[in-house]
Formats: sequence, structure tokens, C-alpha cells
Amino acid sequence: MRSEHRVTSVRSQERGTAASATAVAHPNIALIKYWGKHDERLVIPRTDSLSLTLDIFPTTTRVQLAPEAQHDAVTLDGVPLRGEAQRRVIAFLELVRERAGSLQRAVVDTENTVPTGAGLASSASGFAALAVAASAAYGLDLDATALSRLARRGSGSASRSVFGGFALWHAGSATATAAEADLGSYAEPVPVGDIDPALVIAVVNAGPKSVSSREAMRRTVDTSPLYEAWAVSSKDDLNEMRAALHRVDLDAVGEIAERNALGMHATMLAARPAVRYFAPATLTVLDRVQQLRREGTPAYATMDAGPNVKVLCHRQDAGRVAEAVRGAVPDGTVLIAGPGPAARLLHEDGP
Ligand code: DP6
Repeated sequence: MRSEHRVTSVRSQERGTAASATAVAHPNIALIKYWGKHDERLVIPRTDSLSLTLDIFPTTTRVQLAPEAQHDAVTLDGVPLRGEAQRRVIAFLELVRERAGSLQRAVVDTENTVPTGAGLASSASGFAALAVAASAAYGLDLDATALSRLARRGSGSASRSVFGGFALWHAGSATATAAEADLGSYAEPVPVGDIDPALVIAVVNAGPKSVSSREAMRRTVDTSPLYEAWAVSSKDDLNEMRAALHRVDLDAVGEIAERNALGMHATMLAARPAVRYFAPATLTVLDRVQQLRREGTPAYATMDAGPNVKVLCHRQDAGRVAEAVRGAVPDGTVLIAGPGPAARLLHEDGP
């Protein structure tokens, strides 16, 4: 591991007084999608994926050890987490405690600037920030690769948010033992030359999604007759995209990203019962993106587990693309994002 990729180097020791650490991470948008798991418990995906970490919507998470407490206390934007969301954070803390050999409970406070559950990757920034903060608070000294593996256990896409810019998540081997599969499944940065991308994000609906991405990908793998074909073609998409990034060809990157995302949604539409995230406004934006291309502006759409559309374009065209998208969905919110930084510790308070 190269030293510039180390996220945390300072150890915080658990002694009488409580250690705490605060970390910040940004969401990422996959250009080659992660859709489908081999192993639900370890979060081992069926395919490699490749993403761009954004410079907007950071998540900030503080983990403070609570030596006297009987239970973990978890809040999101000041409100105690309940149900499945709370269960996932506590299961993640258990994993960190197991590795640290600690029984201490923690107080976890998260501030999200992204609408939660709207297909804008709040779980990616959330678990990347939690991995960095919790490992520091519990005194684990992890390099960025180990942090990526750890973040993956919270939410697969979080493995990529540990890194800034473009990141490739290696699925790892399907036939390996659990320990080998875990070791082989991590993200790493993809160095790219002089490229200046922007993602214009059309938030057409910021409410929570009808089916969680976790449930939707499970149903797709289990029931969609199109799934295997997409997984195979996604491998070719990834190879072609890596070549396109290598030659700094943003238009080819966009074309490949758009077909990969549409293919992923095709697998869901063929699931039983179908999972359809597209809303009427989604299609309106997709039409507008095609029109932009016909008018000579390179712009390419990608969509995740929700109705919102992210449009990849050259930075110099971002204003024009945003204006066109805004005109198409006057009730929506349109934002411009660029490449964002790696997850990092803001500060760490030793005992
Ligand atoms: C459509 O990472 O949220 O955004 O691992 O079950 O937590 P879990 O899933 P999650 O899925 C993201 C799916 C996606 C595509 C992607 O980000 O690659």
C-alpha cells in the first residue's frame, strides 16, 4: 500500500476515558454498477464496479466510546436511528469491536447532507465515514485497503467512497474461502490523466425509495432471466471503460456508463415481481440528455436505485447541461458535482 493512501496512522488507545474520532466521506456514483451479491454476510459482489467520488453531500460521523453504556446509541442528524438502519450500524460496530478485542459500546452521531434513501448513495458516504471514525476510535490501525474492505461490510458501495476520484472495486473470487473472499474484495483508486468530468444530478424525487437497493438486487439475482447476461457484459464494459479512462476519453466513458446503467435497470424490470425505479420525470431527463447529444453536447446518463438521474459531461459543459435538465424538470433540484476527495479523519481525541 502506498503511503499517500493511508487514511489513518494515529492510534487512539482505549483506556479509562473515552476515545473518540470524527471522519468525513463523500458519496460516489458508479459508472460501472455493482448490482448483485455472491455473499450477503460478507458483501461480496458478483461483478467488479467503478465509480467517481463526488465533491458534494459529505457525511460526517463521530464515534465516541462509551465505557459505562450497556448499548450503542446511534443518531442521524440528531434523531435516534431505529429499525433496520440502526441494526446495520450496530452490526458494523460489532465487527469493529471484534477486531479490536473491545466490549465498549459507542455513541455514533452522523450528519448527512444527502437526502437519505433517495438513490444518491447516502449509505456509501455513511459507511465509509463510519469505517474511518470507528476504526480510529477503537484503536485499529488500518490502511486504506483494509478500510475499504471494512466499509464494504456496512454497504458495498462504501468500499469505493474510501477513495477520492475514480475507484475500482474488485469483486474478489467467488470460489474462495470466506477469509480469501474478504481479502480479495476491496476498492482502489484508478489514476486518470488530465480529465475534467462533472456530474449533473437531477433530483426528481428526494423521498425514500419504494424498494431498498439491498432487497432489489437480491430479487434481481434470484429471479431475473436477464441478470447473468448483464453480469457478463458488465465485465466487458469495465475493461472498455478502463481503456477509455486510460486514454482520457470522457465521451467513451459516458457511453459505456449509460449502457451499463440501462442494462442494470433492464435486469430489474425483468425481475419477478419487477423493480422499477424510473419515474415519468426520469424519462423526461433521459430524453433531454439524448437531445443534448443530438445538439452536439456530449452528456450521458446513469441511474441508481431510485428515480434520480446523474448526467456525466465535460466540466466546461456542466452549466449548459444543468440548465437543459432544469428546463426538463422544473420541479426537481439540479446540482453540479465534480470529483471529490477520499474519506479522512477530521480529528481523533485520545483518552
Ligand atoms: C445501484 O451499496 O447500497 O447504487 O451493499 O446492499 O448496501 P448494499 O448496496 P448498495 O448498492 C448500491 C447499488 C447501486 C450501484 C452502485 O453504487 O454500484
